[in-house]
Amino acid sequence: MTLRRKLPITRHQLLAGIASASLLVVASCGSGSKSTSSTTKAPSTPASTSSTTVPVASMDELAATPPMGWNSWNQVRCYDLNEDVVKSAADAIVRHGLDKLGYSYVVVDDCWQEPERAEDGSLQPNKERFPSGLKSLADYVHDKGLKFGLYLSPGSETCAMQWDEYPGTGLGSFGHERQDAEMLRDIGVDYLKYDWCAADETDGLVPQEAFAHMRDELERLERPIVYSISEYGKHQPWTWAPGIAHMWRTTSDIAPSWGSISHIINSQAEHYKYSGPGAWNDPDMLQVGNGELTDDEVRAHIGMWAMLAAPLMIGTDLDKVSPSVLEALSNPDVIAVDQDPLGQQARRVSLDNGAQVWVRELEGGDLAVALLNSTDAETKIATTLEELDAESGPWKIRDLWTQSDEEPIGAEMTEPSDSVISRKVPPHAMVMLRLSR
Ligand code: GLA
Repeated sequence: MTLRRKLPITRHQLLAGIASASLLVVASCGSGSKSTSSTTKAPSTPASTSSTTVPVASMDELAATPPMGWNSWNQVRCYDLNEDVVKSAADAIVRHGLDKLGYSYVVVDDCWQEPERAEDGSLQPNKERFPSGLKSLADYVHDKGLKFGLYLSPGSETCAMQWDEYPGTGLGSFGHERQDAEMLRDIGVDYLKYDWCAADETDGLVPQEAFAHMRDELERLERPIVYSISEYGKHQPWTWAPGIAHMWRTTSDIAPSWGSISHIINSQAEHYKYSGPGAWNDPDMLQVGNGELTDDEVRAHIGMWAMLAAPLMIGTDLDKVSPSVLEALSNPDVIAVDQDPLGQQARRVSLDNGAQVWVRELEGGDLAVALLNSTDAETKIATTLEELDAESGPWKIRDLWTQSDEEPIGAEMTEPSDSVISRKVPPHAMVMLRLSR
């Protein structure tokens, strides 16, 4: 497998520039150089590269659109994880037809390990939780036509050892990178979540180096493995992770509350410059179905993740999910925005006391528009074709949550109001529109 980016990619030269620059940063980190600065714009031309750092092949092809699937963490966290939970999730994905909509990865998060490595240094699945072993579980998932994912950490500890008092020693991959990567291949893993867990403090690691190290080990395997990294956005990964990983977390952990979801959305407004096919900002996994989220909040959560071209990883019990949550997760128009081949993440064009307008350019010239109300009161939110950078109309309008077509706008453009889109939006809700010619 090769994770490095193919050059030239005309449409994504900007990202290729970041990728090349990031590889140079990786190379210079060991000599004490500082990493890239936080909010600088990507270089407009790729930095020069040596033959060993030139991105050469198919990163884009493996995660050409944001990965979709299910991950155990938001559903069961640490102590309720076992093979039955994972099998049930795989069964439910297929039973609900979510696989046909693109949800394909079934990912086992932290707390799958025995507390100690075996004598040969290999990680072992927890015998009580995974009595049949991980190979058998991966086979089960594959037999359903789905793909299998697993969690590792670059330091010597996983996050559950740090935060959930999960017993164990040396469960991180530090010093075992090759062995653990080969284990992924032998199990039949298709997706790795590689989670930082303060590896700088525990082991003195540098994120760019540690994540690139595992990328190199994955490349050796010649098995396509989606590489998802996580350091919670602490070191501005959007500036260096393209070319290292397919997706990188941009935030600390999401909670099943509107406060957490809305906080994350607000922190994403500038990240659109950095993501694209094969390289995605990851504002963390979905919490729909968990906590006390209302139907409006559920739709706003999924809809904004789609606007952000975010990976869509379900984290709830699909055997118990409510019809409205399932319907929201299954909305084909919203998924089509998330999975749009252009891979252009939305930008925010206005923010007025929590009333927000976001626009995402789609392949073929369509636009996805979000009118998001993150306030506690119903609010009228308006935008114009000019504000959306859209040419004059007419534009057809489809409401993606009600799945209904609305009156076109911009046909005449004789009155200023001809270009206005205005809706009353309930609290903690979004109106999501697709504009097309
Ligand atoms: C961190 C990650 C979570 C999850 C846990 C597992 O908190 O951000 O997504 O993987 O670790 O311990």
